[in-house]
Amino acid sequence: MNYKIVTIPGDGIGPDITKEAINVLNKIASVYGHTFTYEEKLMGGIAIDLAGSSLPQDTIDACKAADAVLLGAVGGPKWDNLPNGDRPEKGLLGIRGALGLFANLRPAVLFPQLKAASPLKEEIIGDSLDILIVRELTSGIYFGEKQKVVCEEDDSKTYASDLEKYTVGEIERIIRVGFEAAMKRSKKLCVVDKANVLESSRLWRVVVNRVAKDYPEVAYSYMYVDNAAMQLVVNPKQFDVIVTSNIFGDILSDEASIITGSIGMLASASLGEGTLGLYEPSHGSAPDIAGQNKANPIATILSGAMMLKYSFNLEKEAAAIEAAVMEVLDAGYRTGDIMSEGMKCIGTSEIGKLIADAIK
Ligand code: IPM
Ligand code: MG
Repeated sequence: MNYKIVTIPGDGIGPDITKEAINVLNKIASVYGHTFTYEEKLMGGIAIDLAGSSLPQDTIDACKAADAVLLGAVGGPKWDNLPNGDRPEKGLLGIRGALGLFANLRPAVLFPQLKAASPLKEEIIGDSLDILIVRELTSGIYFGEKQKVVCEEDDSKTYASDLEKYTVGEIERIIRVGFEAAMKRSKKLCVVDKANVLESSRLWRVVVNRVAKDYPEVAYSYMYVDNAAMQLVVNPKQFDVIVTSNIFGDILSDEASIITGSIGMLASASLGEGTLGLYEPSHGSAPDIAGQNKANPIATILSGAMMLKYSFNLEKEAAAIEAAVMEVLDAGYRTGDIMSEGMKCIGTSEIGKLIADAIK
């Protein structure tokens, strides 16, 4: 089959890791007889520098015309305080919104080979951990009305506000993604919110209770986000699928990823109503190690596997990438972030090549 992929390397380590994921996808194409064509586009800080906007229209148009989008990372101190208020992250939120990618799937999986890299005690983490965080991605406080009102006479009265707003429709569609995911896994769903304080969370619960009637086999529960943050480190195994709002999902997915060893391993898929998806590692652009062959490309490579699974329906090929990652970890190869005693520490391009070579 032929697939059109837009690649957005972005900033910092983005180009380093995207390159490795493309090499792995190319190996899949040659072994399994597919054709992947790539079109590279600008977004983030580099787009501000070269095209005057963190999200050029031409990038949006190309993404809309593609079968999937592979993204590296965006951001860096260089673009933190631009006079026109643009910033790399604006491009990222803009593309999620423009493509209607309301569902962000972030699997936090513990690779048994990386147990030693988890900051949790062995009796808590055990041999396996497999949590799927379903994060709402195009609404809530990220997209609600923003305001900054400067009070000239009395600066102590200057204020800023961001609005956490959800419509029933927005809640329902993400909740359904959560229930559908639970149906494919262990039929357990935890809705994380702050319903003891937030009106928006109380509306989530009304919608969840209604949608749940369509999924009688799923055992669902609610948990306040502060408790969920704590439970993730004291008893992470109680979770299977978590569904939550944009901001809570952002925070909990970083936490979930680090308990599995490294944020350098956490892939993500952002999906909308159709098959078009955007695939990116959950980590940032790590400008301090950019271009030094030090970054861990595995989260991006695994995001490529998610692309094959969710946008192209190529399950076997996706599994081949996951197996190749396992094989290379089993052989003792590590990047710096997941290094432990007795293992072999290698660079971005070396581990990328080993993973590509391991695809059969
Ligand atoms: C993520 C990132 C982004 C987010 C930033 C870079 C805007 O942290 O994808 O988790 O907050 O969504
Ligand atoms: Mg984040």
